[in-house]
Amino acid sequence: MDNILLLPIFLLLSISSSAYKPCDANIDQSYVCNDARFASIGLNMSSFAFCDKTLPLDRRAKDLVDSMTLDEKVAQLGNTARGVQRLGLPPYEWWSEALHGVSNVGPGTKFNKDVPAATSFPTPILTTASFNETLWRTIGEVVSTEARAMRNVGKAGLTFWSPTMNVARDPRWGRITETPGECPFVVGRYVVNYVGGLQDVPGQEERSPFRPLKVSACCKHYTAYDVDAWLGVDRFHFDARVAERDLIETFNRPFEMCVKEGDVSSVMCSYNRINGIPSCADTRLLSDTIRGEWKLNGYIVSDCDSIEVMVDNHHWLNDKPEDAVRQVIRAGLDLDCGSFYPNYLKSAVEQGKVREGDIDKALNNLYIVLLRLGFFDGSPEFESLGKEDICSKDHMQLSIEAARQGIVLLKNDHNALPLDASKLQSVAVIGPHAEATAAMIGNYAGVPCKYTKPQDAFAKYTQVNFMRGCDGVACPNGDWIFHAVQMSQMSNATVIHVGLDLSVEAEGHDRVDLLLPGYQTQLINEVAAAADHPVILVIFSAGPVDVSFAQNNKKIGAIIWAGYPGEEGGVAIADVVFGKSNPGGRLPVTWYKNDYVKQLPMTSIQLRPDDTLGYPGRTYKFFNGSVLYPFGFGLSYTQFSYNLLSSVRSVVTKLNPVQHCHDIAYKPNAYVPSCKAVLVEDIGCDQTIDIEVEVNNIGSVDGGHVVMVYSIPPEPIVGAPLKQLIGFERVFVKAGSSTAAKFSINACEALSLVTETAYKVLPWGQHTISIGDGNGAITFPLRVNFEFYSD
Ligand SMILES: *[C@@H]1O[C@H](CO)[C@@H](O)[C@H](O)[C@H]1NC(C)=O
Ligand SMILES: *[C@@H]1O[C@H](CO)[C@@H](O)[C@H](O)[C@H]1NC(C)=O
Ligand SMILES: *[C@@H]1O[C@H](CO)[C@@H](O)[C@H](O)[C@H]1NC(C)=O
Ligand SMILES: *[C@@H]1O[C@H](CO)[C@@H](O)[C@H](O)[C@H]1NC(C)=O
Repeated sequence: MDNILLLPIFLLLSISSSAYKPCDANIDQSYVCNDARFASIGLNMSSFAFCDKTLPLDRRAKDLVDSMTLDEKVAQLGNTARGVQRLGLPPYEWWSEALHGVSNVGPGTKFNKDVPAATSFPTPILTTASFNETLWRTIGEVVSTEARAMRNVGKAGLTFWSPTMNVARDPRWGRITETPGECPFVVGRYVVNYVGGLQDVPGQEERSPFRPLKVSACCKHYTAYDVDAWLGVDRFHFDARVAERDLIETFNRPFEMCVKEGDVSSVMCSYNRINGIPSCADTRLLSDTIRGEWKLNGYIVSDCDSIEVMVDNHHWLNDKPEDAVRQVIRAGLDLDCGSFYPNYLKSAVEQGKVREGDIDKALNNLYIVLLRLGFFDGSPEFESLGKEDICSKDHMQLSIEAARQGIVLLKNDHNALPLDASKLQSVAVIGPHAEATAAMIGNYAGVPCKYTKPQDAFAKYTQVNFMRGCDGVACPNGDWIFHAVQMSQMSNATVIHVGLDLSVEAEGHDRVDLLLPGYQTQLINEVAAAADHPVILVIFSAGPVDVSFAQNNKKIGAIIWAGYPGEEGGVAIADVVFGKSNPGGRLPVTWYKNDYVKQLPMTSIQLRPDDTLGYPGRTYKFFNGSVLYPFGFGLSYTQFSYNLLSSVRSVVTKLNPVQHCHDIAYKPNAYVPSCKAVLVEDIGCDQTIDIEVEVNNIGSVDGGHVVMVYSIPPEPIVGAPLKQLIGFERVFVKAGSSTAAKFSINACEALSLVTETAYKVLPWGQHTISIGDGNGAITFPLRVNFEFYSD
């Protein structure tokens, strides 16, 4: 974006006089189709049909593309589009990021003294733990408001390559912090809401190829991408061997939701290969699926330098650059984050390897998105946003609120929490994260409005005795532990802030175990052993940390998971510890014990257990072993109970006489019905499972509670998920009162399975619905029957 702003200065110097305006500096450069701007560069705007607002957007895009020479075309197809001065088209930087706040990781967005910062929310894994769809959408809205405000002062682009939405398949993955966790359904719901918040222009949300966009979001990285660098295997060389079943059921499902329900305007393909083919070069994955089946209204972009990675690292087909650009443009890749398109597309055309028409298609997809963003015509709805809309009080408050809603209470023996500040003279705030700042905002961050460290937030409640106890997260020795023990002994309560940071889990860096680094465990154990008062553990991490030792240690009263809680994460942590906020977050990933990762390599992609190789299953859907804390786990300072008010108990699907029944694998000796299953695409699937449940707060404090609804497939089916989440809702219930949660879930979505040969089927028989899990869950059977009729 800086390029656009530099342009007028350059032009002022080079063009001596303008008949249009006395002062060129006053010409509005914020959008393209402005008469005065054209005149100032010696052009007459009315001779360019792409600026004719009476024409449909696709005609305007086509006019622009058809006006360009081949050289001009290829110069627009890298992330830094060069523009065409001859046509009045300014340069544009496509690459901006906004994973959890406007970020300056991409070159399209910059902070300076005018706009020094933007609101930095918790990283997505913690925000996901709130299981509050309104919160997810609201954060998206705030981020796009700040992005538009930054755009208006020339500091941001309009196209943001966020969110990251790969399913967190393996607990070691370094990028779990960027994701909405391990459940494809939750990931999908998160992105539909976050993308909606980023993109939707109020009043014009209805899906269409030409609807206006507030900013453009991008669902990435497509697909089966979740190995970064693990024991010598890295994403630039990795070939994910994925079964079609796992693609449909797990890896592609959130992408499908993002495109179909979220109407996202961009998808990014990933670095890895999938069954031998680099994802950006796979026609079936890009053109056939994203554009054909899901009907993307937008453009497909490569992960940065993916085409180069294809050539240099994957050595796929021993491609030369021209062959590689041929593969990807044919597959349906519109934009190259990198320079292979600008550098090699022209020679590829000249060598007869690429049709110029394919280049035109890519450009059309890109310009329609820019037209929808007001790049050409301006966006009057957002014109008034400015500096005062960035880091506003409300926005910063929402960042704290997101952390409060996401924080998960993992242990609270004998109500060790909340602490009563009025009864404490002092609290020891110790551990490597006790004075966390940058660690709280993780990666793909911008510059935050401010930081509030745990240490400073606790000081608002009572006197703080601070001691790190470790030299950073690595905690390479036990030298400082003694001082932490002393500090704890001088205090009336102790809160130890431990965990991970980007040195342990990050892009390009997977974990090899699930343990706390260095001497952190010793720090906790020694402080706890010496303490005569409650010891509270606060864990910073994205992936699970095996803290079984702390769960089993009676002297550790409570454990809190704080994710990476955003710019003022310390406030949220202190509010939870002192009971100003009652935690209601739930874990979005399974917290395995450390021995889990010794049982299977990260590179085994499949979700189901592999009995021949002895690999256990992955995620709550397929792992049946014991875990430290299951997916969806989270305690509260109050207690809740459920009453089922009403629910559907059976689903009857009518089949015509020529519809085929579908075979699915059954356990031996099971009763075999005449029709085991039918294809989902063969049936109407308009029935809904309507459930109404009353949530009672039977404790003594108000609190938020997440109602989770699971379906459990009929018992005789082999290879089905153990259970799958089909609905969730966060409700707020005052102490002693109750509220109703209502669900209306499409029966096929809730009850269907993907077969081994990758059909989506609705199985006959007795399914089970479970509201909640563990103690207090309500379960009831739900029958699926088929009836044949003759027309
Ligand atoms: C620009 O072009 C239009 C249509 O061709 C013409 O009517 C108009 O006079 C031109 N304006 C200038 C300033 O040349
Ligand atoms: C708090 O700690 C101080 C210093 O160790 C001690 O004198 C005081 O009695 C403690 N108060 C409580 C309520 O335990
Ligand atoms: C759990 O899964 C493993 C791996 O498939 C299987 O061998 C075992 O029988 C299962 N255990 C139970 C209790 O279902
Ligand atoms: C969900 O989040 C929104 C936005 O922060 C908030 O207003 C609402 O109260 C939250 N819902 C619950 C049940 O906590």
